[in-house]
Amino acid sequence: MDSRELLIKSALGGETPRPPIWLMRQAGRYMAEYRNLRKSNSFMELCHKSELAAEITLQPIRAFNMDGAILFCDILVTAEALGADVEIVEKQGPVIANPIDKEGDLHSMPPTEEAVGSLGYVAKTIGMIRNELGQKKALLGFAGAPFTVASYMIEGGSSKMVPQTFKMINESPELFAGLMSRLTDLTIKYVEMQREAGVDAVQIFESWASLLPEEMYLKHVFPHLKRLVESLHHPEKPLILFALATNSLWQHLGQLPAQVLSIDSSHSLGNFRKLYPEKALQGNLDSRWLLGSRANLLTEVDRILAEMSDRKGYIFNLGHGITPKTPVDNVKALCDHILGQ
Ligand code: CP3
Repeated sequence: MDSRELLIKSALGGETPRPPIWLMRQAGRYMAEYRNLRKSNSFMELCHKSELAAEITLQPIRAFNMDGAILFCDILVTAEALGADVEIVEKQGPVIANPIDKEGDLHSMPPTEEAVGSLGYVAKTIGMIRNELGQKKALLGFAGAPFTVASYMIEGGSSKMVPQTFKMINESPELFAGLMSRLTDLTIKYVEMQREAGVDAVQIFESWASLLPEEMYLKHVFPHLKRLVESLHHPEKPLILFALATNSLWQHLGQLPAQVLSIDSSHSLGNFRKLYPEKALQGNLDSRWLLGSRANLLTEVDRILAEMSDRKGYIFNLGHGITPKTPVDNVKALCDHILGQ
């Protein structure tokens, strides 16, 4: 079974000779090849220039031979397509110079068709990656979930408390709902475009699900995520839902028709297997193991493999992304260990 078959089959809950592996943020600052290209380009330029984005996507595959390549891009390109002025600032992260705070901001957004059209460079990148990658490796696309992207558009950048978003939900609920609808419409079309361009599976990132009280999330956010996941459900093209969420919120997220749940390191995979027997699971090695000794890293990997040893519906990954100080030798050791199972 080649890497592509392994990954798609596992994502659809099938039995495989070993778990497939890919790593969130597998392309990025921990690799010298990436830092080199980054010296002469802003992060958003790297996303926009298809030749460079395709090259960066392939760097970790050449170095570590993962089963899947994930498109190099960012979740904030959907915000950008709706008119957000996005920049990734060193040591600060994303900054959006024109945050949303009034109805007029919604009216000045381009219509969905035009916004998807402006993301055509991503389809071009996907075509270039597939040409280089061949047919035997899986290619993963992705998009931010509407709320995670909306929080950046409202706050103007990263925020641990999302105070403006909280305020908008409570004081201007129609404005918030309008923004969420626009993002949901665009994200559906954007993922369809990625599938047409050749991705095998798509991961939806709901990284900031836990920043709202659960009742507020369920009332104002969940219906939009539900519409997104239901619209994108496809029996042969798996959807992976990644969220940083509590057990209690997962009880709702886990009901959505995504075939795979991607679990962060605070949860027990074994427990999730019992709770969601009909889902495939992805995760959840704590990325901090990659910063320590090789022996400890592989002991922890073996513990996870033993927990998921029935080899059905399991994709090896981290609980969240690789961090910039990760030694490449440890990434190599991890991948070799899984590929050799
Ligand atoms: O996984 C991959 O290798 C694919 C590429 C990818 C990136 N960002 C590249 C990136 C993916 C899938 C993302 C998703 C993303 N982006 C998320 C969801 C996942 C998560 O981490 O929870 C979020 C919230 C963002 C928004 C974003 N973009 C942040 C918070 C940052 C700053 C992070 C940092 O470490 O500085 C970015 C920039 C970014 N996206 C970088 C990379 C490689 C670093 C940019 C640089 O070179 O300076």
